[in-house]
Amino acid sequence: MSTPTPADKFSFGLWTVGWPGRDPFGDATRPDLDVVEAVHRLAELGAYGLSFHDDDLFGFAATEREKQIGRLQGALQETGLVIPMVTTNLFSHPVFKDGGLTSNDRGVRRFALRKVLRNIELAAELGAKVYVLWGGREGSEYDTAKDVRAALDRYREAMNLLTQFVTDRGYDIRFALEPKPNEPRGDILLPTIGHALGFISTLDQPDLVGLNPEVGHEQMAGLNFVHGIAQALWQGKLFHIDLNGQRGIKYDQDLVFGHGDLMNAFALVDLLESAGYDGPRHFDYKPSRTEDITGVWDSARANMATYLLLRDRARAFRADPEVQEALAVAGVAELGKPTLNAGESYEDLMKDDSFDPDKAGERGYGFVRLNQLALEHLAGAR
Ligand code: GCO
Ligand code: MN
Ligand code: MN
Repeated sequence: MSTPTPADKFSFGLWTVGWPGRDPFGDATRPDLDVVEAVHRLAELGAYGLSFHDDDLFGFAATEREKQIGRLQGALQETGLVIPMVTTNLFSHPVFKDGGLTSNDRGVRRFALRKVLRNIELAAELGAKVYVLWGGREGSEYDTAKDVRAALDRYREAMNLLTQFVTDRGYDIRFALEPKPNEPRGDILLPTIGHALGFISTLDQPDLVGLNPEVGHEQMAGLNFVHGIAQALWQGKLFHIDLNGQRGIKYDQDLVFGHGDLMNAFALVDLLESAGYDGPRHFDYKPSRTEDITGVWDSARANMATYLLLRDRARAFRADPEVQEALAVAGVAELGKPTLNAGESYEDLMKDDSFDPDKAGERGYGFVRLNQLALEHLAGAR
C-alpha cells in the first residue's frame, strides 16, 4: 500500500483531529489537542496541510491571538506543513444563534463581517489560497422567521464586500462556499451544490467564488456526491473539497473517508484524479467519540490510506482491457461526441431518417457488468 507524501496534498482541519468528542448528548471524551502537536503529528503521517477556523487556533475571545499564531508559524517552519485554507467560526458563540452574515440582527451581521475580514488578513499572511465559508447557522427553523430573499440579499452583499476586499488588498485568495442542507439549523441557506452555484452566478465577482463541497453534506440530502462534483468541475467551481464518510440520510456523521458509501468514494477518486483536480484533498471528519488519542491518529491515517487505495484501484480499473471493452459496449466515450455533425443544421437533422428506434431500443448497454467490474477492482479481486 502506498504511503502518503506531501505531493498527495492531504490536509486536515485543526477541528477534526482536535475534536474532543463533545456532542449534543455527551461531554468530551478526549482532552483538547494543542496546535503544535497537531502540526507535528500530521506532518509525520505524510499530510501537507492544515486548515483552521479563527476560534480553533486562539478561541473566540482571542486573548492569545498573536502568541498562538506565532506558535503555529513555528510548527509550520519545523515541519514544512502549509496552510492551504482558512475559515471563520460564525456558529459557536451565542451571538451567532440566528446566523452571522444573514442574522436578522444587523449588528450581528456587521460583527460577523468584521470577524471574517480580520481573519482573511491572517489567511493572506499565512499564504492560504482558499477561504471557506460554511454557513452552518445561516438559516432557520421556522419559515415565518426568516425572509429568505432578504437573507440571500445580505449573503450576496457580504460576498460582494469580501471579494472587493481581497481585490483591493491584492490578496491571492478565492472563496469557497460549503453547502449543507441542515444541522445545526433546521434548514440552511445554499443547501446543496446546485443552490450554491445558482447563487454564485448573481455575484459581482463570480470568478472569485467557488465551492467547497463535502461528501456527507450532499449525501445527507440523498444526492449523488460524484454528480455534484462533476458539475462543480464542469463549471470550474471546485476550489476545495471536504472528504469524509456518511451512511445515508441522517445526521452529519463526518466519518472517515470511505467509511460511508464506498462505491461512490471510488468513483469520486476516479473523477478527481482523471479530471486533474489539483487542490487540497482535505479531510473534514470527526474521529469517533469512542476513540482515544491513538484512535485519533489511526483515523487520520485511515483517511489518507483509503484515498491512496482508491486511487490505486481506480488506476487498475482504467488500465484493465476488459474494463475498456465494457466501457466501449456501454458507450461511455460516445457521449463525448457532439450530437450534431460539424456544420450540420437542424434542417439537416430533421431530414435524417436513417435511424431505426426499434432496433436502437433493443440495445443492451452492459452497465451492470461494467459496475461489477468496478466493484471487483474496488474489492481487490482483480
Ligand atoms: C460540518 C462542516 C464544518 C465545516 C467547517 C468549515 O461538518 O458541518 O463541514 O465542519 O466544514 O466548520 O467551516
Ligand atoms: Mn460535515
Ligand atoms: Mn466541511
